Amino acid sequence: MASAPREHFSSRAGFVLAAVGSAVGLGNMWRFSYLTAENGGAAFVMLYLAITLAVGLPVLLAELVIGRGAQKSPIRALAHFGGPAWRPLGLVFVAAGFLILSYYGVIAGWTVRYAGIALWSGFDSGIADRFGEIATGWDAFGFQAVFMLFTIWIVAGGVKRGIERSAVILMPALFVIVCGLALYASTLDGASAGYSYYFETDFSRLSEPAVIKDAAGQAFFSLSLGMGAMLTYASYLDRTHNLPDESLVIAGADVGIAFIAGLVVFPMIFALGLSEKVGASTVGALFITLPQAFAEMGTVGRLVGFLFFAALIVGALTSAISLLEVVVATAVDGLGWSRGRAAWIMGGVIAALGAPSAWSTDFLGLVDSIANNLFLLGGGFALSIFVGWVMKDPVAEVRSGTEGVRWFFAWRALLRFVAPAALAFVLWFSIPATWDALVSTVEAWTAPVEASPETPQLEG
Ligand code: PHE
Repeated sequence: MASAPREHFSSRAGFVLAAVGSAVGLGNMWRFSYLTAENGGAAFVMLYLAITLAVGLPVLLAELVIGRGAQKSPIRALAHFGGPAWRPLGLVFVAAGFLILSYYGVIAGWTVRYAGIALWSGFDSGIADRFGEIATGWDAFGFQAVFMLFTIWIVAGGVKRGIERSAVILMPALFVIVCGLALYASTLDGASAGYSYYFETDFSRLSEPAVIKDAAGQAFFSLSLGMGAMLTYASYLDRTHNLPDESLVIAGADVGIAFIAGLVVFPMIFALGLSEKVGASTVGALFITLPQAFAEMGTVGRLVGFLFFAALIVGALTSAISLLEVVVATAVDGLGWSRGRAAWIMGGVIAALGAPSAWSTDFLGLVDSIANNLFLLGGGFALSIFVGWVMKDPVAEVRSGTEGVRWFFAWRALLRFVAPAALAFVLWFSIPATWDALVSTVEAWTAPVEASPETPQLEG
């Protein structure tokens, strides 16, 4: 079925920016800040960094090596190096693409809505109470659809003219905005309380399974690992690329922007005395607390709020593009569809699948935890086994394009032993925890609505 030659990124920077675009997204701002707030500040950040280095980075390089080596979308790439028995793993990756983008688009829709509010009317102090209204129902679904239209349109434009071009324009803008906001936040009175909260280190939390699970899930989600997104982008590379170097740059940029986003979020929340609201709602922390801070800043808050949500939109868009690309590349390679057709049909299906998340933030939270704790971590586990043990000569594959990188053997050892062991350990308790979350969400839906004030509710 070999037809037109495979499209390639036009430059090293183009690829790196697209991959950074995939990595940097809602995960860096929305997820990173609420997880850090929930799990004990800097201690959590350190754990997340350690997992990113010891597990995330090796798996990232593994994905790049498979994709570039095979020059194919995930299902075929895995079969290329591992035989047909590995095709089902590729299918799981594609399923993860559907699953994650279905709710990711809904959250991205909220950011579009908030940016619009900043532009047209500015935030008012009642904004927090309207979160439920903004986050669910037809409004949420409509804004998600708008966001998905943009995503589809860019993916339909192709690798160079769509994915690469958008990343080259948008990522530098995002970087400048986030750094500017962090600088601005540092000038606020009371910012230091935010920094001390962010950097406060509660090591005792590190032994909690839930904290370890969240750190690992965040490391994978933020680097777009475990579902073939990086693999798919790498399938548009030629052998001149130095993959170890590029994976370092990608991971460094991802971690760096998450860290700087924390320097925006925490000082702003604390400077405006909204700290007690930080942990109030996992899904909504960023969308409830920060808009309130913007409201209190008055006119400046409108500009700051707009820039903040604009940065979130940019991050979300370049990430959503990579999620859709996994599905589209598979339909193009596997079903022989044209890119445009694949993008519009698959993107449309995914937007429709977002409906339950648009109508229920509980459902959204549940899908997020299933996607992370099962799909991405499980996918990472399988990928490390695949490249560590199954693929014939991954070191030769990674070596092409480099001149004597010294850490091949460390990479191999991390992939063979450290990554699978660490991920098996995390999956060991994240599987039951995710199951419990599923059961309790389903129970909450099916339970008769009769809770009266006198009836004590179970906590936790
Ligand atoms: N890394 C993206 C973010 O942080 C999310 C993502 C996950 C994108 C998996 C692609 C694949 O927002």
